[in-house]
Amino acid sequence: MVQLTSCFCTLAFILLHILYQPSIAAAADETATIYSVLSFGAKRNGVTDSTQAFLDAWAAACASLDSAEINVPKGRYLLNSMTFKGDCKSAQITFRIDGTLVASPDYRVLGQANNWLGFEGVSGVTIIGGTLDAKGSALWACKLSSKASNCPDGATSLSFTNSKNIRVEGLMSLNSQMYHIVINGCQDVLIQGVKVIAAGNSPNTDGIHVQFSKNVAIFNTSIKTGDDCVSIGPGTKDLWMEHISCGPGHGISIGSLAKDLEEEGVQNVTVKNAIFKGTQNGVRIKSWARRSNGFVQGVQFLDVEMVDVQNPIVIDQNYCPHNLNCPAQVSGVKISDVLYQNIRGTSATAVAVKFACSAANPCSGIRLKNVNLACRNQAVQSYCTNAIGKAYGTVQPNSCL
Ligand SMILES: *[C@@H]1O[C@H](CO)[C@@H](O)[C@H](O)[C@H]1NC(C)=O
Ligand SMILES: *[C@@H]1O[C@H](CO)[C@@H](O)[C@H](O)[C@H]1NC(C)=O
Repeated sequence: MVQLTSCFCTLAFILLHILYQPSIAAAADETATIYSVLSFGAKRNGVTDSTQAFLDAWAAACASLDSAEINVPKGRYLLNSMTFKGDCKSAQITFRIDGTLVASPDYRVLGQANNWLGFEGVSGVTIIGGTLDAKGSALWACKLSSKASNCPDGATSLSFTNSKNIRVEGLMSLNSQMYHIVINGCQDVLIQGVKVIAAGNSPNTDGIHVQFSKNVAIFNTSIKTGDDCVSIGPGTKDLWMEHISCGPGHGISIGSLAKDLEEEGVQNVTVKNAIFKGTQNGVRIKSWARRSNGFVQGVQFLDVEMVDVQNPIVIDQNYCPHNLNCPAQVSGVKISDVLYQNIRGTSATAVAVKFACSAANPCSGIRLKNVNLACRNQAVQSYCTNAIGKAYGTVQPNSCL
């Protein structure tokens, strides 16, 4: 009897469920409830502000007891700065974006906001597809002009803060005002098949910035931009990057570190199978020439191709633009255990390998294994100060470790 009742209840529940759900998704999650932004009033004409419709769709998805999918059909959606906040009842929310999200062409609309699309304190959020067109070029022009000090900083296009179990797949980010994607204070993040595109001279348009985050993986991602392709800040642990294409841009950079006296370290970072084309740097570790308790430990750069890269391999601990605010002129950041393996291709300058480490904290455990870098019309060389380590296999230019 007990069993029969519970069986009946289950059946009744399923029936109610089917009758009263807005719709049932077929794709990624069989049981996800679908919320289309169109049914919340979004307009796909690219000129009607759809911000409130997106926020309302998020609120509904967030309150859903089941997995939820927010659908953004084909079209262009004009959106202002938005924050999608947790905690949500739904354990899994997928944004499935077939359309393009566009920012106002007037850069002042987003210019003072930290983020255009910001996720805060969420868990189990996936973004599939979509194009973000932040229309940053007018702000870049302002920053590059003589009245640069009057320009707003600009907004990051997509950011995740204090969040976990995040997936971003097949997204394209165009012309951000500031950084394209920021992962800050997160855990368990997967980014794959993402494309970032901005002009080679666009200021501060880092592709993906990661900081204070653990277990972040970036796969199959192509970044063409005006600043770092990937920049890695303090407190980054267990970061994996594989199949990354970079250029134009400033390369993959750990740092700038030692911005603060008290600073979390960077640990266990891997770059595997990457290509850099015409970039300012290839793989770089950079710190201010300032006191700090920060550190970098356990980094591997594996199977990397350089094509006309100005500084293919570089550690620079002397960063101090305009020699301001670096009283001791040495970096407190300790760099150890860095492996460069199977790095090949061409340098656009004579110094293809540069380890300019801190006099107070020499770099240790630097390993070069099968490095083959050439320069089109001059001999390549390497430069070391305060760097301790070893070379294995064929290393060209000759190691100075
Ligand atoms: C990346 O792309 C390669 C080649 O297209 C594919 O084999 C691999 O599964 C992809 N990896 C991920 C994690 O998407
Ligand atoms: C380093 O990070 C990777 C993920 O990127 C992880 O699989 C590995 O276990 C970590 N290694 C250590 C020693 O923690």
